[in-house]
Amino acid sequence: MQNLTTIGFIGAGNMAYAIISGLINNGFCADNIKISDKNESLLSLRKQEFNLEVFTDNIELAAHCDVIILAVKPQVLSSVCHQLKDSLKANTLIISIAAGVRAHDIDRWLGGNAAIVRTMPNTPALLNQGVTGMFANECVSDTQKELAISILDSVGQSLWVSTEKMLDAVTALSGSGPAYFFLMIESMTNAGIALGLDEQTAQTLSIQTALGASMMADTSNHSPKELRANVTSPNGTTQAAIESFQDQNFEMVVAHAMRAAFDRSSELASELGDSD
Ligand SMILES: NC(=O)c1ccc[n+]([C@@H]2O[C@H](COP(=O)([O-])OP(=O)(O)OC[C@H]3O[C@@H](n4cnc5c(N)ncnc54)[C@H](OP(=O)(O)O)[C@@H]3O)[C@@H](O)[C@H]2O)c1
Repeated sequence: MQNLTTIGFIGAGNMAYAIISGLINNGFCADNIKISDKNESLLSLRKQEFNLEVFTDNIELAAHCDVIILAVKPQVLSSVCHQLKDSLKANTLIISIAAGVRAHDIDRWLGGNAAIVRTMPNTPALLNQGVTGMFANECVSDTQKELAISILDSVGQSLWVSTEKMLDAVTALSGSGPAYFFLMIESMTNAGIALGLDEQTAQTLSIQTALGASMMADTSNHSPKELRANVTSPNGTTQAAIESFQDQNFEMVVAHAMRAAFDRSSELASELGDSD
């Protein structure tokens, strides 16, 4: 990534911390990262952790930056954008990590014609194992797209979606997805306890199995379906369990759950975008 670019974070919370850590671990110079927040004690902590310049005034931060990462909660994004409206440098790239707020609403709040990349990261970004879906509006140049990818790649993997609507699908899959796997771990732990294991043993077996299976799916040349077939011996224990899942229409259960998340994501975007 170009170390000449200055990146400013508005909001110094968990996600800003994760991305700044990723950038610095990937060789990006802390001198070219600025951060602003209304919480002065959090700013002092970030300054201590990363030795970077901090601001309590978002407008002052904006005057120094080529890229601004909006890392505040969705509910305060409108007021932050209104505040920045007349203060952005020409060609500033705006990257929003706020869940559910549409690019055209951010653009309207900023006064129009802003280069905006809207992203949907997920919680494992906090461990550099995230995956981020990204959408760029028509004002974003190819160079700015490369820059956005290199920033989000610092906390895992990132990929583009071609329409903003697809970010609702990304939200339903990877945005909310960590919770689905937590539910699976929780359910397997409880089922293990019901079969006689103590809680600690059942939880360790569940978590390590999820981790091992994910790593196999990630590194193998086989598809998840083939991997499943490979570990399912005819008439064996795994087949008994898989048939039980299929009898309960497991695929349909997952499809319904993700459709509910997709619909809620669309609704939230409308609710959040309604403010002016
Ligand atoms: N955490 C995740 O896993 C995750 C995943 C995907 C997307 N996201 C998105 O990432 C964004 C940030 O999430 P987070 O978990 O990092 O939130 P967070 O920890 O609450 O950080 C947000 C920070 O912004 C500050 N802030 C509030 N109003 C401000 C203003 N007007 N100007 C400057 N700073 C202000 C907050 O201060 P106060 O606390 O004092 O209000 C807080 O320190 C959210 O929009 C969320 O939807 C998060």
